[in-house]
Amino acid sequence: MLPRVIGHRGAALDAPENTLAGLREAARQGCRWVEIDVRLTADHRLVLMHDPSVDRTTTATGRVRELPLARLTAMDAGTRFGAAFAGEPVPSLDDAIDAAHALDLRLDIELKCEAGDSSAAAAALVAVLGRAWRAQDPPLVSSFDHAALVAVRKAAPDLPVAVVTPTLADEWREAFETLGAAALHVGDRGLAADPVRQLTAEGIEIGVYTVNDGGRARDLFSWGVTGVFSDCPGAIAAAL
Ligand code: G3P
Ligand code: MG
Repeated sequence: MLPRVIGHRGAALDAPENTLAGLREAARQGCRWVEIDVRLTADHRLVLMHDPSVDRTTTATGRVRELPLARLTAMDAGTRFGAAFAGEPVPSLDDAIDAAHALDLRLDIELKCEAGDSSAAAAALVAVLGRAWRAQDPPLVSSFDHAALVAVRKAAPDLPVAVVTPTLADEWREAFETLGAAALHVGDRGLAADPVRQLTAEGIEIGVYTVNDGGRARDLFSWGVTGVFSDCPGAIAAAL
């Protein structure tokens, strides 16, 4: 299901992460797929944001879960990355989907959940996809929160899902098998050839995050990894 190179948070080395400018930059670098992080707002909408708080990536402060959509989308998510991006807003998931359609990008929507929010976040995501996703191929929905994936699967049985795990030593297999997940997304830190080869021999599709070095990407592909998430997807594609 996964392509070889997926833009991570857009193209996070070259444009502000999780913004429409990031989606455009990923497309410019030749990506067909982009990973974005989404979070539930106070009014149960979804915005693109990696951290629970807006402090690192915007010029504002506060927690996403305590702010309404209108406040979040008025924030500047570009200035901290670079003056050339000043005024780049925090996008709603609806806006990101519209941009992805216009750019012919497929999305891996990584759902980030606060404790106790799995069902509400999953319901919000399925609602947005039901009204906004118009491309023929569905998006991929992924999460570290395996309960959220179960809730997504219940509400939208045909949507492909991917289980995200920081390492292969963490618990991922039960969720992966219960869900019939399309892929396993695993962190690169500490990842070794033999366990990866065993899983790919089982037919498990593996995506590895975050890979910004061409030599490392080549090693991972030689072990049977299907795709890598990269902050500099164009450079990785060129190195391959
Ligand atoms: O979805 C893969 C990867 O993005 C997970 O890690 O922290 O960058 O969202 P993180
Ligand atoms: Mg992510």
